[in-house]
Amino acid sequence: MADDSSAHDSATPKADGTTRRDFLTLTASAVGAVGVGAVAIPFINSMNPAADVLAQASIDVELGDIQPGSSKVVMWRGKPVFIRHRTQTEIDKLQKTPLRELPDPQTDLERFAKNPAWLVVVGVCTHLGCVPNERRGMQTDGVDGGWLCACHGSVYDGSGRIIKGPAPKNLEVPSYQFMNGNKTLRIG
Ligand code: FES
Repeated sequence: MADDSSAHDSATPKADGTTRRDFLTLTASAVGAVGVGAVAIPFINSMNPAADVLAQASIDVELGDIQPGSSKVVMWRGKPVFIRHRTQTEIDKLQKTPLRELPDPQTDLERFAKNPAWLVVVGVCTHLGCVPNERRGMQTDGVDGGWLCACHGSVYDGSGRIIKGPAPKNLEVPSYQFMNGNKTLRIG
């Protein structure tokens, strides 16, 4: 019986010089590339921010209803942001605070140069992340206004600067800008 194994030999060249083995190798590579692509596209898409996250990348806050001496809390990117419309008396006092008294020295003007009348800070304590409470008027500890983090007793002044307690840093000032003739605040 004649041996026809050469007819199926994967290494036997065809007329164009390719072999069955070459064909199988190319096919496997192509299938592999498609498979990687099919996995990679959903993976890359999963790294893009979700639509609801993008929607909160920046928020606009109308300032008209926040009177001098009052505050508002808004949520931005899952965190509270304190907005306070400061009186000229508050601003004058805060701008005179000696830097040597501050654990994280920063002038009020450095923090709120865009418009000193408006305090805008992320309301997350820089100690362990609790949300501080706003204080009104002079307190028994001699500090006027500002915020108290009741978790471990950190006190922030009316500029959001740490003045007492274990928190190491001032409350963060987020990126923000005024729009519409200072009637609208865009955070983020
Ligand atoms: S988390 Fe605010 S003082 Fe500890």
